[in-house]
Amino acid sequence: VAALILALAGGYLLGSIPFGLVLAYLGGHGDIRKIGSGNIGATNVLRTGNKPLAAATLILDSGKGAIAVGLAHCLALNFLQAPDAPHLAGLVAGGGAMLGHTFPVWLGFKGGKGVATALGVLLATSWPVGVIACLTWLLVAVLFRISSLSALVALALAPVVAGVLPTVCPAAAGFGAGPAESVLALAIAILVWLRHHANIRRLLAGTEPKIGQGKQKAE
Ligand code: G3P
Repeated sequence: VAALILALAGGYLLGSIPFGLVLAYLGGHGDIRKIGSGNIGATNVLRTGNKPLAAATLILDSGKGAIAVGLAHCLALNFLQAPDAPHLAGLVAGGGAMLGHTFPVWLGFKGGKGVATALGVLLATSWPVGVIACLTWLLVAVLFRISSLSALVALALAPVVAGVLPTVCPAAAGFGAGPAESVLALAIAILVWLRHHANIRRLLAGTEPKIGQGKQKAE
């Protein structure tokens, strides 16, 4: 139990690094929370017009989720005896990273919406589930050009994919897809959907901006 609390805390700390905020400052764009949607994620960094910075935010925000999972897995593998410990520690650290990104202590617990970090966590806990989530995001983005809609669809599908994939393709179970990943993906999806309440309202009203458009007021 102590090891799982450590995995949660370590994941939280890694997840709480607000890369979008830091990079936007470093790139000379000021406080990203005063631009566009006010979010600290890659989609909003893109609204500064700085594509490389948005790409870096996406990579680093996903990377911290994946690294939290991988690091916890490796440490548990080396220091814990229980055979399930590495798997469990990875999942818990992934959940911690999501909480860290969404509720970072450094920003008064007002963090991001967790999409990039979720994709990183999914890729690291079960790469087939992560790849399907990324491809779903891309497909919806190509079709509708709306980042939030892509995220909502991709993450809503992820728990189903994680649960069903081992039945459809038994090999996927060897790459982490299964009930535990499905539960984590469901918790992530609920968190991400809750964090997108303003986006959902705009989607329903037909006022959600397309990717790269930045003229909406901060929430
Ligand atoms: O990654 C977050 C995205 O789904 C929505 O971002 O800035 O349009 O609220 P934003």
